[in-house]
Amino acid sequence: MSPPPRLSAITLLLLLLSTLTVMSSNPNSHSPETEQNLHNSSRFSVTSRRNLFQNDELLMAKVLIEGNSTISSKNKTFDLGFFSPNSEDWYLGIRYSSISTPTYIWVANRERPIRSNASASAAPPTLEITATGRLAVKDSGNSIVWQSANVDLGTSVVLYENGNLALLNPRGQVKWQSFDFPTDTWLPGMNLTTSKALTSWRSSSDPSPGLYSLRLRPDHGGFELVFNKTTPYWSTGSWTGEAFTNIPEMMVPYIYKFHFDDPFKPTASFGFTEKPVDNRLPLTQFRLDSSGQLRQYTWSSQSENWDKFWSQPGNTCRVLGSCGKFGLCDGNSERPCECLSGFEPVDLLSWESGDFSDGCRRLDHTDNKNNVVCGKRDDRFEQVGGDMSGLVGGEKIEPFNSSLDSCQRACLESCACVGVYHNERTNLCEHLFGSLLNLRNLSSDSSGVDVIYVRVPKGGGALNDKKRRKDLSPVVLAASIVGSIAVFGFFVFVALFFIRRRRRKAVEEDGGFPILTLKVFSYKELHQVTRGFSEKLGHGGFGAVFQGRLLDSTLVAVKRLERPGTGEKEFRAEVCTIGNVQHVNLVRLRGFCSEDSHRLLVYEYMPNGALSVYLRKEGPNLSWDKRFGVAIGVARGIAYLHEECRDCIIHCDIKPENILLDSDYTPKVSDFGMAKLLGRDFSRVLATMRGTWGYVAPEWISGVAITTKADVYSYGMTLIELIGGRRNVEAPPSASGGREGSATPERWFFPPWAARQIIEGNMAAVIDRRLGNGYDAEEAWRVALVAVWCIQDDEAIRPTMGMVVKMLEGVVEVTVPPVPKLLQALVSGESFHGVKVDSPGLSPDSRRISNAG
Ligand SMILES: *[C@@H]1O[C@H](CO)[C@@H](O)[C@H](O)[C@H]1NC(C)=O
Ligand SMILES: *[C@@H]1O[C@H](CO)[C@@H](O)[C@H](O)[C@H]1NC(C)=O
Ligand SMILES: *[C@@H]1O[C@H](CO)[C@@H](O)[C@H](O)[C@H]1NC(C)=O
Ligand SMILES: *[C@@H]1O[C@H](CO)[C@@H](O)[C@H](O)[C@H]1NC(C)=O
Ligand SMILES: *[C@@H]1O[C@H](CO)[C@@H](O)[C@H](O)[C@H]1NC(C)=O
Ligand SMILES: *[C@@H]1O[C@H](CO)[C@@H](O)[C@H](O)[C@H]1NC(C)=O
Ligand SMILES: *[C@@H]1O[C@H](CO)[C@@H](O)[C@H](O)[C@H]1NC(C)=O
Ligand SMILES: *[C@@H]1O[C@H](CO)[C@@H](O)[C@H](O)[C@H]1NC(C)=O
Repeated sequence: MSPPPRLSAITLLLLLLSTLTVMSSNPNSHSPETEQNLHNSSRFSVTSRRNLFQNDELLMAKVLIEGNSTISSKNKTFDLGFFSPNSEDWYLGIRYSSISTPTYIWVANRERPIRSNASASAAPPTLEITATGRLAVKDSGNSIVWQSANVDLGTSVVLYENGNLALLNPRGQVKWQSFDFPTDTWLPGMNLTTSKALTSWRSSSDPSPGLYSLRLRPDHGGFELVFNKTTPYWSTGSWTGEAFTNIPEMMVPYIYKFHFDDPFKPTASFGFTEKPVDNRLPLTQFRLDSSGQLRQYTWSSQSENWDKFWSQPGNTCRVLGSCGKFGLCDGNSERPCECLSGFEPVDLLSWESGDFSDGCRRLDHTDNKNNVVCGKRDDRFEQVGGDMSGLVGGEKIEPFNSSLDSCQRACLESCACVGVYHNERTNLCEHLFGSLLNLRNLSSDSSGVDVIYVRVPKGGGALNDKKRRKDLSPVVLAASIVGSIAVFGFFVFVALFFIRRRRRKAVEEDGGFPILTLKVFSYKELHQVTRGFSEKLGHGGFGAVFQGRLLDSTLVAVKRLERPGTGEKEFRAEVCTIGNVQHVNLVRLRGFCSEDSHRLLVYEYMPNGALSVYLRKEGPNLSWDKRFGVAIGVARGIAYLHEECRDCIIHCDIKPENILLDSDYTPKVSDFGMAKLLGRDFSRVLATMRGTWGYVAPEWISGVAITTKADVYSYGMTLIELIGGRRNVEAPPSASGGREGSATPERWFFPPWAARQIIEGNMAAVIDRRLGNGYDAEEAWRVALVAVWCIQDDEAIRPTMGMVVKMLEGVVEVTVPPVPKLLQALVSGESFHGVKVDSPGLSPDSRRISNAG
């Protein structure tokens, strides 16, 4: 698609002429940057094609972009040009020009792609200002595939620094702008109204309008995500003046400022702007992903990647139709979608690439679309979870009274019956026709949804194998067996060769590698040390931990990393860094193993286990002295990581599970350096965040860089648990009769309540009852005040860890802190009642929506 070399003398002349005409026809009205962008950028040419008079003004069609030329914004943050996500269809789009990952924030002709034309003589696609004063995209045949919808004519174009493409009239007024016609991306400065919705791409490589949209509902005072333009599946809740009820984290005072004009009126308009961080505006966006999730990303120039900080709905199975028709969703699995046994993906290729929207069909389907089968009386039923809003394209028959068995038998009599819904309690039977969406694996996350029985072919999955095997003739089979043995043998040989070589190399390398005190273990050795990984001590975020005994009979804890994120070289470098960090309040790394895909870390063993063990009512008690020792010790350990190491280490995961107690109850912080070792996996943080608001500092979702103050926050949360002798998030007093709801509900989530009591001077209410009077009131008061200082919303107000140590030691006076507001908001927010928000029992909203739809 290269622009043909048409720069003859005539066009040059024309170019000069047209430039002059445009300039003289718009005396001193254009903003200078527009004209510069348009007229002296060497990367596109302005050619005149037609002249005509309209409204007494001289107008001409102007080609702005031709083939692979682009228009850039002034500071080159964005550019506009043609692109092809699948090297077949071409689109005109705006993308970030400064980053390596192509990311399109707006697409003009998403409904009518330009088919690529292999013939070299074909003219390249163009973007023009037409003689009628509109923007138009033309294909090689010079026919218009997309056109801006302005009534008043425009004569020039500018791409602003915020990604907005505007068409201006000669007076420099905006007559049309891309921000008024968003696609799937919502940028700072862009307002959404009832007429401006986001619609997802069809798939990650297909910008055509997909199945999901985000729309404003002034009657609800908020937004909702809808499937197929009709059925809502998630809602922000209504606007409270500061935040939406289901998104209390909006109150985090970080890079966004939200504004909502006329929230409950048809003229409602919602938008956000960005506050500069270090005098710079980070690249950031909300995007309605083709998977149906609304996600927020911020570009990290450090990792050259879009970091995802926030997304909703948290559980992808709550996205309507996420696995397509007859697809089974399992939110806990790496690949969320599966076909039922006896079913296959309709489009295997896109299914494997992660686009599940086409769903599944019976292996023995007779027509491509429906799963109608006749004469299959020997089908069976598979019990799955689902909800009735996911029934598409089938007429209904009245439910009738019947046992499950006869309900199912009656279904088999019908060609079109795809399953039954049976209510055990009322014995009501309902036959299902058409297609089923939103089926869920009952054994995982689907409690709270209805049980549905889906009709599946007899034999189920076995059919799949049989069919495949039938295709193989005996000769082919024999040949392939012989072949695979040969290939296998070859690979074993090659593998052995390389392993030998690698061993030798590794040994050589260890000699020069500056790992001072670390022992390099082989996998076999560690297998022996842990007696075949038999004694599991626990399971952390990064992998399981096993007890082991070295030859000299010292006990060790061996951590087996589950998802080795980095290569061997990076792993060793990081291990070296961690190994060189030594402090009495940090768990010491003794050695490691890095062999093939195995990555293991060997730590000193802590006989008294994790602090979390002591924070249960039925668990062992810790005296006040020990608790105070733990508070100071942990603070010193973290302060060392933050301030005294050569490279500052942010722990990122301070919590009682990661604080281990030595034989004399000296606390030692474990798992430091892990975030660095495995890369900052924000989605992991995100996934656990809603469940453990307890420890995660609010800036994790704000898009700003994480600093050591995030650890200070988590430390404060841990202190509150330490003095309260309980977990921050605890189930409400359940079987205790009518107390539910009447008792202060915020006690479910301890910190906001505790913080208020502490600030009001009511220490006795907060402190662990098991201590009785056996505590030093002055020390306890100091620890409590420090805890509340540490959990302030604004990281600038939180003390540094070094300061915390001084405060606890009594060297520095501790004043009464302000109330952490965000915490209070979290508790009053409808979405948060102190426990996991995604557990279905606590999301009345999702039920309400799916029933309403
Ligand atoms: C894009 O344009 C350049 C010249 O500006 C040309 O060398 C290149 O081949 C073109 N690329 C394509 C894909 O047409
Ligand atoms: C346009 O021309 C002006 C002066 O002729 C120059 O300063 C400016 O850098 C040019 N802009 C571009 C985008 O080439
Ligand atoms: C463009 O960059 C210049 C220099 O870096 C800066 O002063 C100016 O504010 C930037 N303009 C915009 C719109 O970002
Ligand atoms: C490609 O272009 C040629 C001539 O320009 C035209 O005849 C042909 O139909 C085009 N093919 C497609 C697939 O658009
Ligand atoms: C969005 O709304 C704000 C506040 O009402 C307004 O200042 C701004 O100009 C609007 N932005 C656009 C692109 O319309
Ligand atoms: C979307 O809705 C239309 C009718 O409004 C229907 O024909 C189509 O099948 C629906 N698509 C899906 C995937 O449910
Ligand atoms: C179904 O059974 C319920 C009681 O279990 C009864 O009230 C209802 O009338 C019955 N409906 C039909 C259609 O027989
Ligand atoms: C649901 O998940 C479990 C475990 O993840 C699996 O054993 C079971 O087969 C799944 N059920 C269906 C119907 O696929």
